[in-house]
Amino acid sequence: MKVLILETAAQAVARATGFVVTMVQQKPDAVLGLATGGTMLPLYDCLRARHLAEGVSFAGVSTFNLDEYIGLSPDHPCSYHHYMQKALFDHIDIDPARTHLPHGDSADPTAEAARYEALIAATGGIDLQLLGIGQNGHIGFNEPTSSLASRTRLKTLTEDTRRANQRYFDSFDDTPRYALTMGVATILESKSCLLLATGSAKADAVAAMVEGPVAAICPASALQLHRNVTVVLDQEAAAGLKLRTYYHHVHPKGDESAIG
Ligand code: PGA
Repeated sequence: MKVLILETAAQAVARATGFVVTMVQQKPDAVLGLATGGTMLPLYDCLRARHLAEGVSFAGVSTFNLDEYIGLSPDHPCSYHHYMQKALFDHIDIDPARTHLPHGDSADPTAEAARYEALIAATGGIDLQLLGIGQNGHIGFNEPTSSLASRTRLKTLTEDTRRANQRYFDSFDDTPRYALTMGVATILESKSCLLLATGSAKADAVAAMVEGPVAAICPASALQLHRNVTVVLDQEAAAGLKLRTYYHHVHPKGDESAIG
């Protein structure tokens, strides 16, 4: 794992945005895996700004989001379909036909999950998967004890996750109980992964992911098994890492190292 620690959240977001921009510039038909949540909003703002200011183009890019709530139609204001439209897709030159999210309102979630997996494979696999991390160590909606071999499927959300996401809904009771999510193994099949975490609330989960054992209790720890993972952190999210000094030494100010 490449651990890049930036001083501030804004710097971490700008650094992570740079990886996405480099990917689409080097491979205009790149397949991006996208994430939602509060952490990603400033990153999508940065992508929009770079599209506007520098003409960074997404015209040939395909996208696959990690997850969607069960029971919400794409036009529901709290759906991740809606989130992606408002946060990114409406503001860049992406072809809507090439943007994909699982359909949470499918009558047959198992069939929908299989369709989604097959579509990712048919598109050639994901070149760069963007990830956030939950305070409980989830990636996508792979909650603690998710199989590390899991594929896209229906997952029951933990109460902690529902509480964390309650702010987007009218009440806790209105917060969805289930989601369709890429599995841990689906994520590990991506050619590269970029995880962004900012803020002190993520410090314990980040420490467990990077320095803890590979264990289903912290699904993000499975990323230790991937050959090409970059973790971009601000100081607060990095605060629980024992080898912080080492990461700073290898990647001063979050820069690339010539050595690794
Ligand atoms: P957040 O969510 O960015 O809203 O904290 C991250 C996640 O749960 O993966």
